[in-house]
Amino acid sequence: MAEPTKLAKDDEPKDDATPNVSEVETVEAASEEEAVAALDAHVERGEPILQVRNLVKHFPLTQGILFKKQIGAVKAVDGISFDLYQGETLGIVGESGCGKSTVAKLLMNLEQATAGEIFYKGQDITRLSGRALKAVRRNIQMVFQDPYTSLNPRMTVGDIIGEPFDIHPEVAPKGDRRRKVQELLDVVGLNPEYVNRYPHQFSGGQRQRIGIARGLALNPEIIICDEPVSALDVSVQAQVINLMERLQDEFNLSYVFIAHDLSIVRHISDRVGVMYLGKMAEIGTDTQIYDHPTHPYTQALLSAVPVPDPDAREGRERIILTGDVPSPANPPSGCRFRTRCWKAQDKCAEEVPLLAVPERFQGTDSPAAHESACHFAEEKDVVHAA
Ligand SMILES: Nc1ncnc2c1ncn2[C@@H]1O[C@H](COP(=O)(O)OP(=O)(O)OP(=O)(O)O)[C@@H](O)[C@H]1O
Ligand code: SF4
Ligand SMILES: [Mg+2]
Repeated sequence: MAEPTKLAKDDEPKDDATPNVSEVETVEAASEEEAVAALDAHVERGEPILQVRNLVKHFPLTQGILFKKQIGAVKAVDGISFDLYQGETLGIVGESGCGKSTVAKLLMNLEQATAGEIFYKGQDITRLSGRALKAVRRNIQMVFQDPYTSLNPRMTVGDIIGEPFDIHPEVAPKGDRRRKVQELLDVVGLNPEYVNRYPHQFSGGQRQRIGIARGLALNPEIIICDEPVSALDVSVQAQVINLMERLQDEFNLSYVFIAHDLSIVRHISDRVGVMYLGKMAEIGTDTQIYDHPTHPYTQALLSAVPVPDPDAREGRERIILTGDVPSPANPPSGCRFRTRCWKAQDKCAEEVPLLAVPERFQGTDSPAAHESACHFAEEKDVVHAA
């Protein structure tokens, strides 16, 4: 398969290409029907529905009021690659500020990438505009963290859920909207009679159901969920997660699920990516990441989760991370985790570790044979409950 043509963009990252990700086949078609068929064929062949390649987002740091001068950049996302397959959930975890929400916004095209590509069914959506972009955006929707602020308090639930139909009237023509909205309320477990109520008349969990109904309105294939249950009571979190799992089965949805809570991410995810300071530290199946992590950062994250069972704690090491997360405006050279890593050596300051299957595990069926961006990746018994 041929690599897609890469157009030059400002600030292309030069130090951290990810060579081991599967190659991407681009789609070329003469007519719209042909284009849709070619896109669908991409997924039918078992290719990922979404392929992210060397994605970069640098926010400029400026000085001055009248004459703004760029004095640096916040490297919020700095060369990230991953795949998302149809019907699967990819969890993304990492400390606050590591770039998770920025990834979500880039996938939604709410932020413009500084560099890199996002292929939806083989088509690079970072270069689309106008009608082509609108058509793709319909298939990628988002559920936000805070159901209190993400719903307009002056709109009825019916108007909130039906708002996407203003942009895509082909999905629900005017006369059919009320019925469609009521159907969506029913799908997310809310009474269809609530269509004329306002957000403040609902509980937090119910509001997040409204947010999910709105996300489903245009029949998307992919939903980007940015901390969808973090603002909810623990007792309500499970109900919303169960709803999301049911909807995934019912509509064959693919989720990118961003969260802090490692247990929730494990519960819902098929694969998990661990981010640190704008980069992907490790990515693999839930078992590979939770039971066989090879990156020191993942091991530290997991070891920070409290373990209630004393037997499970027996003989295992607890890793306490020291030091603050460095600023993304001035990240450490080489491996970004090196200022907090107990295994760091000279090489770690000099060479950026690539996200790759560690050499000695390549071609083996070891659970450690998954991608890890560490020069000295190896398994370690750590205390964790997730
Ligand atoms: N519009 C912006 N302008 C400048 N810097 C930004 C902007 N948006 C995000 N950042 C910075 O980019 C970095 C990543 O932010 P992001 O919100 O993606 O992190 P996050 O992993 O989602 O954090 P959290 O877990 O707290 O939600 C942070 O340092 C943040 O301050
Ligand atoms: S590359 Fe070095 S500093 Fe980075 S995680 Fe591995 S051992 Fe630690
Ligand atoms: Mg965030």
